[in-house]
Amino acid sequence: MPLNIDKGLAGTVAADTALSFIDGAKGVLEYAGYDIDSLARSSNFEETSWLLWNGRLPTSRELAEFGSALQAEYALDPRLIDLIRTIPRTAAPMDALRTSVSAMGHFDPEADDNSVEANRRKALRLVAKTPGLIATFDRWRKGKPLAAPDSSLSIAGNFLWMLTGARPTPAMERALDVCLVLHADHGLNASTFAARVTISTQSDMYSAATTAVGTLKGPLHGGANQEVMEMLLEIGELEKVDGYINGKLARKERIMGFGHRVYKAYDPRATYLKTFARQVASDTGNLPLFEMSRRIEEIVLAQPNIIEKGIFPNVDFYSATTYYSLGLDLDLFTCMFAASRMSGWTGHCIEQLAANKLIRPHADYTGPRGLAYVAIGLREDAATSRTSPSARQTMSVAAGAKSSSM
Ligand code: CMC
Repeated sequence: MPLNIDKGLAGTVAADTALSFIDGAKGVLEYAGYDIDSLARSSNFEETSWLLWNGRLPTSRELAEFGSALQAEYALDPRLIDLIRTIPRTAAPMDALRTSVSAMGHFDPEADDNSVEANRRKALRLVAKTPGLIATFDRWRKGKPLAAPDSSLSIAGNFLWMLTGARPTPAMERALDVCLVLHADHGLNASTFAARVTISTQSDMYSAATTAVGTLKGPLHGGANQEVMEMLLEIGELEKVDGYINGKLARKERIMGFGHRVYKAYDPRATYLKTFARQVASDTGNLPLFEMSRRIEEIVLAQPNIIEKGIFPNVDFYSATTYYSLGLDLDLFTCMFAASRMSGWTGHCIEQLAANKLIRPHADYTGPRGLAYVAIGLREDAATSRTSPSARQTMSVAAGAKSSSM
């Protein structure tokens, strides 16, 4: 079989999926055929999750039953809460979430049942409980009493309730819900790929979700939203934006919240969020932050080389100010991405198992070959003899320096 080297797998199709369609050149994203813009405007996270898992929109009865089933799963096992209380308060919430998602598996008797029915139940539990895992750790680390879930609320509403201990306003609930809809799935992104690799070994859904949380954490993926906010706070005011961003561009540093592996046009999630974020920022007295974001976008998109590379704001750019306006701590931003993407990750796991093939690519070996094994007593000389003459010289100088200092 001829082997192609494709670093970063940018040109490799590694799975079939019916969850989401992306046209990166045109800036299109659809979940099961429905444009992301119409879903952000008219749907909610519960309905979007049902759509991703079933490939069609639910009837009102199906949606009501699904909503109730999710609400019935909000509560966390008390032993899981005890376990979360053993995580150091200083831990990063994404690390705590990775541990908590993994630990959830210990309290699910179906953890190792990979039947479709059991996996659908586990997907539901993971989506229903993840916001509670995040809120529980946050309240624990702040020394606040834990808030029991309110199963009369939506996933977004219940999260805000468990996090703050106060009933969210409809506008706050809606703002978070829109973010959850926009982040729910996105083709074979890095964390979804990681989840599919794990489940392709016929491991379990908790292991796959844990892998995915760990992969999402990185600043090139989900961690970018926190970095965007850190950048905005570091800049501090509109007047300082030009100098800061031009300096970064001159130093060829990346501007977080810009660029995407797939989109070489405006990220359609950012298109919707830009207008939405402005409204949320205005409602919450954070308009100056939004104005700074808008100015950053203007400067970045005015660079000819940036446009040539197809770099535009991505979903993380305007979600950062939205989360901030909702009063979320910066280190919870990526957790919100995880709470949403949990529906995509679990949907992909079920899809992967339906037509499973172990995901196992090749690596191009670049080291030496055919070396003769060297006995330990002779190894230092052997190591020296294998290095380049310049390295040998450095080593002998270092050895000389060591002996002269003794
Ligand atoms: N600012 C400035 N230059 C950039 C940026 C950026 N944010 N992103 C890419 N470039 C440049 C990069 O320097 C490179 O230039 P050159 O060809 O001259 O070396 C070129 O664009 C291609 O970059 P790449 O890293 O090879 O492209 P990629 O497809 O591997 O990277 C990316 C995609 C998201 C990792 C990258 O755009 C990036 O680092 N962005 C900032 C982090 C970020 O916002 N991540 C969130 C992504 S969206 C949410 C999600 O799905 O997780």
